[in-house]
Amino acid sequence: MTQQFRIALLSGDGIGPEIMAVAVDVLKRIGQKFDLQFDFEDAMIGGAAIDQAGTPLPEETLETCRQSDAVLLAAIGGYKWDTQPRHLRPETGLLGLRAGLGLFANLRPAIILPQLIDASSLKREVVEGVDIMVVRELTGGVYFGEPKGIFATESGEKRGVNTMAYSVSEIDRIGRVAFEAAQKRSGKLCSVDKANVLEVSQLWRDRITALAADYPTVELSHLYVDNAAMQLLRWPKQFDTIVTGNLFGDILSDAAAMLTGSIGMLPSASLGEGGPGVFEPVHGSAPDIAGQDKANPLAQVLSAAMLLRYGLDQATAADQLEQSVLQVLDQGYRTPDIMSEGMLQVGCRAMGEALLKTLD
Ligand code: IPM
Ligand code: MG
Repeated sequence: MTQQFRIALLSGDGIGPEIMAVAVDVLKRIGQKFDLQFDFEDAMIGGAAIDQAGTPLPEETLETCRQSDAVLLAAIGGYKWDTQPRHLRPETGLLGLRAGLGLFANLRPAIILPQLIDASSLKREVVEGVDIMVVRELTGGVYFGEPKGIFATESGEKRGVNTMAYSVSEIDRIGRVAFEAAQKRSGKLCSVDKANVLEVSQLWRDRITALAADYPTVELSHLYVDNAAMQLLRWPKQFDTIVTGNLFGDILSDAAAMLTGSIGMLPSASLGEGGPGVFEPVHGSAPDIAGQDKANPLAQVLSAAMLLRYGLDQATAADQLEQSVLQVLDQGYRTPDIMSEGMLQVGCRAMGEALLKTLD
């Protein structure tokens, strides 16, 4: 029997529409193969929404997302909106979407594919076999803490303020997601904080340590964030699952992504309690190459695979899609960001066509 799913498509800005077009084609083909019917609905977000609707996250967009089974997001942002006031910035739309859907858990896998080892700026022996899952808290911490703003002091000097805060329930729920992820992987979890300086991190460390009692098969360790950044570059294979707060996770997930050679390869899943998840590449909107058919659509396609796996519970279809990505790489196709000697350089569209061929 055909299964039906509603998928909200948020293409956003820059290279977003190009990479989204590839992912949608590929999903349609996967749907035919696995008897899944996808009803796609486009909605506006980011700069495109600012230009058309005067706000980076129109209410209809949030509504469309809430009524979907899963949300596929491409990328937001661009130079054009960088100097706007905060409420008219594309990023505010993304943060509003995360908060509006309660997506507190962000899973960012960083896997080095054997085909792309030479694209990494690190030595082969350092990155070969790297397979890390960064579990980033996504709706709390300094991104959302109050008070926040730019205030005038008594002397009239301006002062910018953000607040890094986590409550026990916020730490516990992301902690449990991470322990469960680690359980399903190799059983190693490293919690990253700055407990030598920050009270909020001390509470984080205390709670994560307490939770460990419920997961006796998981080996828990802790690192300060500065050391974690260093260790990620020094010997990344010591890591399996990493759990950390919003800001540290933002930074460390970019570092982890780069181990794999190109941030253009990495998908992510943002999940909440029950409602639809948002699946998006880790990379941004790359305005410098937008509209030139140079973008790498593979992170978007791998995000669609995560959507199938975590959002719609269609593991076999997800496996197939991930296999297709490996296949096109085996066939030598490379977009400019992952190009190396002897390979076949293609654009975004041609990469999409190559993917479709592997699915025929
Ligand atoms: C990310 C991005 C976002 C973040 C920006 C675009 C708001 O860097 O998803 O990592 O900081 O969370
Ligand atoms: Mg980031």
